[in-house]
Amino acid sequence: MNMLAKDFGDDFLWGVATAASQIEGAATTYGRGASIWDTFSKRNGKIKKSHNPEIACDFYHQYKTDIALVKTLGFKIFRFSISWSRILPEGRGSINAEGIQFYHHVIDECLKQGITPYVTLYHWDLPETLAKHGGWTAFSINADFIAFVTLCAKTYGDKVKNWIVINEPFGFTSLGYMLGIHAPGETGLTNFFSAVKHTALAQADGGKILRAEVDNANIGTTFSCSEIIPYTQNASDLLAAKRIDCLMNRLFIEPTLGMGFPTAGWDVLEKFAVSHSLWRYQERMTFDFDYIGLQNYFPLVIKYNAFIPVIQAWEVKAKSRKKPHTAMGWEINAESFYNIIKQFAAYPKVKNIMITENGAAFIDKLIAGRVHDEDRIEYFKLYLAAMLKAKNEGINITGYMAWTLMDNFEWAEGYDARFGLIYNDFKTQERTIKDSGLWWKDFLSEGNRK
Ligand code: BGC
Repeated sequence: MNMLAKDFGDDFLWGVATAASQIEGAATTYGRGASIWDTFSKRNGKIKKSHNPEIACDFYHQYKTDIALVKTLGFKIFRFSISWSRILPEGRGSINAEGIQFYHHVIDECLKQGITPYVTLYHWDLPETLAKHGGWTAFSINADFIAFVTLCAKTYGDKVKNWIVINEPFGFTSLGYMLGIHAPGETGLTNFFSAVKHTALAQADGGKILRAEVDNANIGTTFSCSEIIPYTQNASDLLAAKRIDCLMNRLFIEPTLGMGFPTAGWDVLEKFAVSHSLWRYQERMTFDFDYIGLQNYFPLVIKYNAFIPVIQAWEVKAKSRKKPHTAMGWEINAESFYNIIKQFAAYPKVKNIMITENGAAFIDKLIAGRVHDEDRIEYFKLYLAAMLKAKNEGINITGYMAWTLMDNFEWAEGYDARFGLIYNDFKTQERTIKDSGLWWKDFLSEGNRK
């Protein structure tokens, strides 16, 4: 395939994405307060091999060389997130000046190296003190989030113009408040739906604050998205797939577009809307984002299953369907990437789409100073081609960010799931650009004619 970066247009934006808890380290120093991931990782059996984010990639100390690596690879955008408890150790109230300074340094370094910072305000690391007050299930979280966003906007708004309010609201509300497999480890539908409501409010509140505080801001937020494929065309499988689509794809974007929650798709959502009087908040949940960030990792094949409470749906895994998959067991299916982009682009109010995360974990081996990750190169080629197809059909896709700069703390998977374009040796913190990183470098410099 003869795909070139310039096929995407001269103004197409290429970037690489990260998140604070996954890379920064320095979790207990320089005045930082604990986040829910610090405490969650101390709970038995929650994180593979009892790994924790205390040191992670030590980005806190190595940000200069890491930003230089972003540049070496040819990316023009560096996406990172602000650790709420680094600047507000208790989540609210007193400010940690050292934390504030740290992000000034990171932003200044980006600007000095000609890299545009894209700043995520919330990438899953709630301050532990706020979790004690109920976290995202508590009514008070919205006032705290407003104060946090206002502080960030006023502090960095002169230098940072590109913002992402929330990373994957469905991701952390479902994994952290319904299934209990991510921090803070809460479970059950009551917690989940309270968290959904407050997160949907925070998403729009955040956008409105940025609009008011930052001149010429380019404001986005991100959604995880997965094509939902019914296992068969039987009515029961079709309905099960529809329920999962409501949850995984529609739950957070539709309120922000002014459409309310997708209650017509599933009676459980209807009950949630009624019991929380959500009609009262419709306007507050609406915000006209400048761009919508989509993050795609896998499609899901869904089958009806009467034994699963509430959703009565079951995922038929890629492995059991004998489909190619990554080290996470996630199906490699670029066609589904194309399909889900089209699904989101079909909302009339979505003005422009940025792919704010896409990438894959494979079993990488560092041998004689090289990581030959051909599988990851193939993955990117397939997914970029699918994105180009959508773009060429007229979908307004303005940029793409690869996940992720370097191997990092992959949440409940600990350090074993490697998604990076750069290999990290977690003992020495030595970085080695993988072959996929070199491929990106070639691709972005137009040197590659593959
Ligand atoms: C998250 C990242 C995560 C990636 C791979 C996304 O859902 O935003 O933080 O590392 O998926 O699991």
